[in-house]
Parts: sequence; structure tokens; C-alpha cells
Amino acid sequence: MVDLKRTEYPLSSKYDAAWLLSCDMGPNPLWLLEDLARDLDLKSGMKVLDLGSGKGATSVFLAREYGVQVWAADLWVDPSTVAANFDAQGVDAVAIKAEAHALPFAHEFFDAIVCIDAFEYFGTDDHYLAYLTTFLKPGGQLGIATPAMVREIRDLGHIPKHIKELVGWEATAWHTADWWRFHWATTDLVEVVSARLQESGWRDWLAWAEASSEHNGIPDGSLEMLRADQGEYLSFALVSARKTSKTPT
Ligand SMILES: C[S@@+](CC[C@H](N)C(=O)[O-])C[C@H]1O[C@@H](n2cnc3c(N)ncnc32)[C@H](O)[C@@H]1O
Repeated sequence: MVDLKRTEYPLSSKYDAAWLLSCDMGPNPLWLLEDLARDLDLKSGMKVLDLGSGKGATSVFLAREYGVQVWAADLWVDPSTVAANFDAQGVDAVAIKAEAHALPFAHEFFDAIVCIDAFEYFGTDDHYLAYLTTFLKPGGQLGIATPAMVREIRDLGHIPKHIKELVGWEATAWHTADWWRFHWATTDLVEVVSARLQESGWRDWLAWAEASSEHNGIPDGSLEMLRADQGEYLSFALVSARKTSKTPT
């Protein structure tokens, strides 16, 4: 029986490990969200977009733990699968198929947007923050958890071999927390609240890969990379910000 209970993640520890692993599309989404939410101010009744929500585990968590109204938008997962997951969990949330650059929402609709382990697929585009923040109310919150490097690949001069072997060129979208801080702060579109590299990032990621391997009876795809890394380069960045009220110049 896989154990995903962690004293540092008391809210996530309430969830059934088998259910969580059945929603697996990437490492420890609830641990990431619970940690990220420490930098956010989520209040009951808020309208929250879970962007790149996968099979919906984080949406269930948002609705249950914070009492927010959730719109779960994802590209790869059929929304009927996600909606069935919500029904089974007794959660009232909306599942939508949507591409991150063509979101079907009104401007200034959301109080908050969270994105767990998905922003790396589209969010490094210099134009993206301006687009995404149009869907936030002034003062609305944006929080992301995204795979991160302890040092910029540009500074290293190469993608470390064990990362390149699994992730290939896509690792160029894995940045340091400081990279994200500057990338957002310099736009004046948002005020960065926090941009931090998760201290437990590599350890948590490995623990999830080991749990997933045990659950599925086959080694998780990232296990070899994480064991080779030993926390030298890999972690997660947790970045949160508020949309500014002023018009950027
Ligand atoms: C690694 S999975 C993580 C899913 C979920 N957030 C979790 O942590 O379990 C990445 C998710 O990003 C979504 N995604 C990738 N590119 C996207 C895009 N252009 N627009 C919307 N969603 C996208 C995929 O559909 C996928 O579900």
C-alpha cells in the first residue's frame, strides 16, 4: 500500500493515495498546490481557474480545501473524464477543454488562476503573461508551480545529460525561481508576491516517482533522471503574483 502522507502537507495527506495516483500526469500535484497556496490568499466563493488541470486532482483540492468555485481547463484530457472524476468526488467544478492561448472566458472573470506543472508548456512565451492576466480581476492572483532548475541552463551552457536524455529540448523551459521573478516583475503587469525554489522539490518529486512506480508496478519515467540528479539541478519553482491595477507603460 503506497503511503503519500506527509506531515509537511497536512491537507494533501487527507486524500486517498490510490485516487491521487490514478490522476497521475506529473509529480505530486497536491503537495505542490498546498505549498504554493501558502503564498496565495484563496477565500471561499472566489472564482478560480485551474489551468492545465490534467485529470482534475488539483481542482478537487481547490474546491474542497478553500471553498472556491473552480473552472478546470485542460488540453490533453477529455473534459468528460474530468467531469466524471468531479462527480465521483462529489465536487461541483466545471471541466473544459481549452488551449492556453484561446481561453473561453470573459476578461477579468477570475479572482485567481493557478497552474500546477503545466505553465512550462506555454508560459515562458514573453507575450503570455499579458494575455493570461486579461482574465484576472485587478488585484487578482496568479500562482504557478513549474519544474525548475537550481541554475539556469543558459549559465550552465548545456542541458545536463541525465535531464536531456528524458526531457530533451523541452528542459529549456525549466528555469530558476529568480528567472520567473524577473520575467514577471519587469512587465509591471503583476506584482510578484513570491518566487521561490522549493527546498523539498527534488525530494518530493523522487518520492512521487517511487510511489507511482510501486502503484503501477513499472518504473516511473522520471525515476532514472531523478536518481541521477540527486537534487543537484532539479526542483520546482513556486511563483505567485497579483495583477496590478495600474496600466503598464
Ligand atoms: C504534466 S500535466 C499536469 C496536469 C495537472 N496539472 C497535474 O499536476 O496533475 C500538464 C498538463 O498541461 C496541459 N497542457 C499542456 N499544454 C497545454 C496548452 N497549450 N493548453 C492547455 N493545457 C495544456 C496538458 O493537457 C496536461 O494535462
